[in-house]
Amino acid sequence: MKIDILTVVPGLLESPFTHSILKRAKEKNLLQVNIINLRDYTTYARAQVDDYPFGGGAGMVMMVEPLVNAIEALQKNTAYDEVIYLTPDGNTLNQSMANKLSLKNNLLMICGHYKGIDQRVRDHFITMEISIGDYVLSGGELAAAVLTDAIGRLIPGVLNDETSALSDSFQDNLLAPPVYTRPEIFRGWKVPDVLMSGNHKLIDEWRHEQAIQHTKERRPDILK
Ligand code: ADE
Repeated sequence: MKIDILTVVPGLLESPFTHSILKRAKEKNLLQVNIINLRDYTTYARAQVDDYPFGGGAGMVMMVEPLVNAIEALQKNTAYDEVIYLTPDGNTLNQSMANKLSLKNNLLMICGHYKGIDQRVRDHFITMEISIGDYVLSGGELAAAVLTDAIGRLIPGVLNDETSALSDSFQDNLLAPPVYTRPEIFRGWKVPDVLMSGNHKLIDEWRHEQAIQHTKERRPDILK
């Protein structure tokens, strides 16, 4: 999969994809992430990419022209499955969206700044609008990093044990059960006996019950 991310702050995205699982995905050639500087596509003086909003009001708006120049130039080389705008008024990201996006080949993510991007870009180029939660970030970059991480780890072959994403929280509308590792007893706090029993049927049942209990307590809204 290839993910191109268009941003006015490329420096913000230098590090997130160079560690851990996404680094491995890159090394295995399963995921390629390209950070593209929007300022390379503006024809305005001093690499301007934003301007005052028509009708007045606080804040700046990202201009239509540099964005369209960039998107069209990128589209010449790549047929994107989705052109995604990260925005607090988009559809809230969930695991099912990440699952679906992990099956695509090419994604373009657009990071907004200031008061957002000129509506004409949204009307004519954007195919999906995604929010990562009901709060406002100072730009779309961290949201794009979150989305890329959520998608990237699901690409087949990225995780060592391919089934391990299946037991993640949310994959079956349940939160994950508690997990433990060595030592078996720490300060008198003991790992549940069932996990030490070696009986995998019992362990699976216990985990499922715990997941249901955990979900009922914390997220009854996602329980089917
Ligand atoms: N840009 C600013 N806030 C955002 C959010 N919550 N989700 C996605 N993009 C954003």
